Amino acid sequence: MKKYEIAVIPGDGIGKEVVPAAVKVLHTLADVHGGIRFEFTEFPWSCEYYLEHGNMMPDDGLQILQGFDAIFLGAIGNPKLVPDHISLWGILIKIRRSFEQVINIRPAKYFRGLQSPLVNPNDFDLIVVRENSEGEYSEIGGRIHQGEDEIAIQSAVFTRKGTERAMRYAFELARKRRGHVTSATKSNGIYHSMPFWDKIFNEVKQDYPDVETASYHIDALTAFFVTRPQIFDVIVASNLFGDILTDVGGAIMGSIGIAPAANINLNGKYPSMFEPVHGSAPDICGKGIANPIGQIWTGKMMLDHFGENELGEKLLDVIEDVTADGIKTPDIGGKATTKEVTEEICRRLKRL
Ligand code: NAI
Ligand code: MG
Repeated sequence: MKKYEIAVIPGDGIGKEVVPAAVKVLHTLADVHGGIRFEFTEFPWSCEYYLEHGNMMPDDGLQILQGFDAIFLGAIGNPKLVPDHISLWGILIKIRRSFEQVINIRPAKYFRGLQSPLVNPNDFDLIVVRENSEGEYSEIGGRIHQGEDEIAIQSAVFTRKGTERAMRYAFELARKRRGHVTSATKSNGIYHSMPFWDKIFNEVKQDYPDVETASYHIDALTAFFVTRPQIFDVIVASNLFGDILTDVGGAIMGSIGIAPAANINLNGKYPSMFEPVHGSAPDICGKGIANPIGQIWTGKMMLDHFGENELGEKLLDVIEDVTADGIKTPDIGGKATTKEVTEEICRRLKRL
């Protein structure tokens, strides 16, 4: 019996609703499989925890997490209690950076039973590899003066190591898929970092002559996500570009509520972290109607990471069947609750 020890951080808002749903599905999946077992340990780190302790997680939080095989996280953020930049940097970005989760992968594909807002979604199936350790999301900069003279300076950081690493990951991934990598650039408008990005991309692609490539400026690329997403296979993007692009990816699937994501540690020194693209959705929190699919599909990415790909594929098939049969939460045009969708997925898994 293979055992996976997983740290669970439901976080805030609907994270507390969709994480228990996904945990239930994963337990069911393990039962059906028979040869694996999940051991989940839950941590209450959140904005409420911050109000009580003055910290999003305890001082030894990272040491505690380090011993787990993976971290399964819901969403962080409750702007009514804690400013977003404090909650986000206090835990999410802290974990991503400290645990060297240098790659963020986010798939988007045409999903059976979902109403894509696109007239012709044409079976698109793409995956964004987002550089997750540097780029535009840096602490370098500062603010000075008040009033009319007030200034903010924010520096972006692009290293050869970080850039190349993300690109190589994208090329390796493309080899396992349809063999195409698109680079998201903006070397016309951004004077230093993006020409550097292009240079590294041109270097790295020499090592993958079997993989086809394209390079688009991020503005045009974002538009192509809407007008012809089926031309893409793997897209490699900087931290900010990848973040924005993947919300569009979620939107063209039909809802951000189904979009999954994984923060991958490549050197094996620390656990990877699995969290859906969406946030804590304060507008629907507590109503029991949050879509659990983003969190459950994120669980599938965790299974892939553990090498349980076959099990993951089965899970995704069942989710698509349930959606195609109309058992859907309101964000994707249905009337079902979080609980009903979760129970239906579990019921069908048990039938496998
Ligand atoms: P959001 O993703 O929480 O919500 C955007 C819209 O999508 C809302 O209308 C919401 O109801 C809907 N939505 C999101 N997930 C859904 C689901 N599973 N089912 C049904 N509908 C869903 O983004 P927003 O409103 O910008 O941020 C809210 C809070 O979440 C903020 O504090 C923000 O900082 C935080 N946040 C955290 C993230 C994370 O933990 N990775 C990512 C994005 C935002
Ligand atoms: Mg985002």
